[in-house]
Formats: sequence, C-alpha cells, structure tokens
Amino acid sequence: MDTVPEKKKVMLSGIKPTGDLTLGSYLGAVKNWVERAELYDNYYFMADLHALTTRNNPAELRRRTLEQLAQYVACGLAPEKNTLFIQSQVHQHAELGWVLNCYTMFGELSRMTQFKDKSAKNADNINGGLFTYPSLMAADILLYQPDYVPVGDDQKQHVELTRDVAQRFNNLYGETFKVPEPFIPKVGARVMDLLDPRSKMSKSDEIGNGRILLMEAPEDIMRKFKRAVTDSDTERCVRYDPENKPGVSNLMSIYAAVTGKSFDEIEAEFDGKGYGVFKPAVGEAVVETLRPIREEAARIMKDKAYLENLCREGAQRASYIAEKTLRKVYRKVGLVGRV
Ligand code: TRP
Repeated sequence: MDTVPEKKKVMLSGIKPTGDLTLGSYLGAVKNWVERAELYDNYYFMADLHALTTRNNPAELRRRTLEQLAQYVACGLAPEKNTLFIQSQVHQHAELGWVLNCYTMFGELSRMTQFKDKSAKNADNINGGLFTYPSLMAADILLYQPDYVPVGDDQKQHVELTRDVAQRFNNLYGETFKVPEPFIPKVGARVMDLLDPRSKMSKSDEIGNGRILLMEAPEDIMRKFKRAVTDSDTERCVRYDPENKPGVSNLMSIYAAVTGKSFDEIEAEFDGKGYGVFKPAVGEAVVETLRPIREEAARIMKDKAYLENLCREGAQRASYIAEKTLRKVYRKVGLVGRV
C-alpha cells in the first residue's frame, strides 16, 4: 500500500543540568517521554548555556551535563528515536539568541516572574544572562519550528513570550517561525516527598532523605523507604486515601507505578501485614526498577567513545534543522550571511 506517512508533530524540551534525576521525575515524566517517541518527532536538550546564569563549579557543570544525558538515555529515551543533544554544542542557539534579544523588549523581560524571583534570591549576581534567559529560550524553541513545547507551570510565561516574539518577527519579516503551543504533559505518577508526603519529591531537597535519586545505591534506597513516614491513623493498614493517609498513599502510588499493580491488588497483597512489611517491599520494587537504569547510565559514562558519539550525532542532527532556520533569519534581518 502506497500511503504517504503523515508527518509527525514536532515537540521540543530543554532540561537544565542542575540536579540529578529523581524517582519523581522518572515516574512522573520521563517514563511518558519514552512512550511519546512513537507519536512525535522529539527534541530534548541539556540546557547548559542556561545553567551559566548562576555560578557553577565548571568541572561539576560539565559532569552533570553529560550525566544527565546518559541518565535520559538509560531511562529508555532512545537516541535513534529522539534527537538528544547538548545546547552549547549546537552553536545556532547562541546565535539566534542574540538576534532575538534585539526583538524582545526590556519591559517584557522585566515582567518575567522567574527573573524577579531569581534576582530576589541571588541579589549579588543579577547578570545580563539571567535577564535575557527567555530570549535564549525562545531561540532554543524557534530554531526547530516545533508544534508543542511541554513545560511545567513555572515555564509557561516563557513559552508565552516566545510566541509573542515569534509573532512579532513574523509580522515584520513574513512567515519565519512556527508559533508553538505550550503542551501540558500527561503526568504519570505524582511522587511525593518520603518524609513530607504533602509536598512533591524535589531534586533540590538539600538533605535528601525525602527523595530518591535514579543513581542512588540500593542500600540507600532501602534505608530511605524504611524510614518513610507513614500515617498516624489508628487502623495502620495499607489503604489508598491521599487525603487522610498521604504517606501510605504515596508509597502505594510508587509501588503501583513500578509494578503495574492496581491499588486494589496492592491492598489485597498487604492485607493484615502492616507497614513494617509494606515499606521494604516498596523499597525493593524501586531498587529493582532502577537497577538497570543505574547500571546503564554508569556504563555510558564510562564508555567515552559511545558518549562522544552520542553527543556528536545528536548535535549534528539538531544543527542541520537549526541551521535552516538561522539562515532564513539572518537573510531576513539583513545580515550578510555565512561564507
Ligand atoms: N527554562 C527551562 C527550565 O528552567 C529549561 C529550558 C531552556 C527550556 N530552554 C528551553 C524548556 C526550551 C523548554 C524549551 O526548566
């Protein structure tokens, strides 16, 4: 049969290499991205240029950027099916970022709530990059002409600004950029902090006993699950009730997400067994889910040739698309163009 395959919609997202991936981001997001590979043409990049807006230890930033890439691949984001790359290795981002700076207004940038929050928190380092962060983000996006940009709530305003800048540019110079839509991703399991089950598991939890990192050693994972808070209600049984039993319900959600079991099945499995049996069982199921991911990420980090190749191929694929957009832009605004 000679049917022309329908062109897949394009989706793009950037992730700052600022912290290690948690069990929360894996079960809540990355697992869905793996499934998304069939439905969309996906671009994911490690936003290391954006990371420069705050001070970093250079060796650590480099390591985190590569580790983050390795971890995503280990989670099942196949580089053959997704374009995975490091932002600074595709020079068109910085180049279009500069051009878009000249089409983004001081007033617009001043209204960004993230800029206001971050400058309040880091009063001693309110640099120009922090201020123009959204125009680099607009460049990240518009280079690839995506249909959708999946972002969390905190980034919606930046995507709105990207749309405004794209429209402004298109009005001045004719159709150049696709105006993307924000995309509210389907949330997988909502994983809460193990010690404070009313707030989300966060990678920025400083002490770290309430969150699980993908790369953590099994014995640390087990220890944290054994110490996870359960609820002080009198019945002390495994029952899903997020309102009155947030601790137990969170552990049940995690267990359900990693085993594929339903809440009913889980309640039956632990009927009459108490939390002392339930908590280590959840820990063990998580350990077994993360084991292959941790081992694969470690293997990738050790295999320098593979890692380099991964970066190079991703960057080449991305740059091929990005260059087409950048050329158009350079021509339209009156730059002489590449030699
Ligand atoms: N600003 C985003 C964040 O802090 C990261 C990011 C950079 C991004 N460029 C992007 C997200 C482009 C989506 C699209 O999470």
